Amino acid sequence: MSWIGDPGLSVTIHRLVDLEAVGRDSAALIAGIERIFRSAAARWPDDPVAARAFQELWLSQYLVYERELVFIAKSGGVVVGYLVGCRINPATSPRFATLGYFQTFAAYCVDYPAHLHINLDADFRGHGIGERLIEALFSQLRADGVIGIHVVTGREQRNVGFYRRLGFDELVATPRGGGEVLFLGRRLGGGY
Ligand SMILES: CC(C)(COP(=O)(O)OP(=O)(O)OC[C@H]1O[C@@H](n2cnc3c(N)ncnc32)[C@H](O)[C@@H]1OP(=O)(O)O)[C@@H](O)C(=O)NCCC(=O)NCCS
Repeated sequence: MSWIGDPGLSVTIHRLVDLEAVGRDSAALIAGIERIFRSAAARWPDDPVAARAFQELWLSQYLVYERELVFIAKSGGVVVGYLVGCRINPATSPRFATLGYFQTFAAYCVDYPAHLHINLDADFRGHGIGERLIEALFSQLRADGVIGIHVVTGREQRNVGFYRRLGFDELVATPRGGGEVLFLGRRLGGGY
């Protein structure tokens, strides 16, 4: 797809619950989120049971437990990006028990308990939309009195630069599969 001008300019950011409150088609919005989730997955399990568990762990549970922390980027009525957030400490929650790296990161999760997952359609990356989604989450978390947030990513991932620019610092890393998993944390007290 090609764009005249900056697609970021024609994108609006919304909370899912606000769109639902004014009667927008919730199922269509969720379908848009799921489409981006699947297209962004580096690998998708062949086994349908494993695929369901994968989607549950990385997306669906957030839509159930903390729906008010689901943000959507829309362009021309189409969902082009999403962010899901979580306020609770994943190192002490059974919801995330299958993610072994939280044992290594547990001490850091105390001061940086919240976390997020974010994905944009490939055509909409690199135009500042991700930053707008993160700003929307930060302001909600600050209003809720949350003290810090983390993301877990890979050392070789291009998104590390994105998070560092938004004030996330590398606090701890652990080896995995020949690479390294990074825990990046950001306090929520101040601005950028
Ligand atoms: C990471 C992401 C949310 C950033 O949002 P964005 O609107 O593209 O980001 P901005 O325009 O504000 O900033 C650009 C930065 O985003 C990151 N980025 C851009 N395209 C990216 C891509 N295809 N994959 C990963 N990161 C990317 C880079 O850090 C880029 O900076 P750089 O050009 O100096 O490398 C978005 O690119 C994306 O959805 N990427 C793929 C999925 C992903 O990596 N999600 C995070 C999982 S932890």
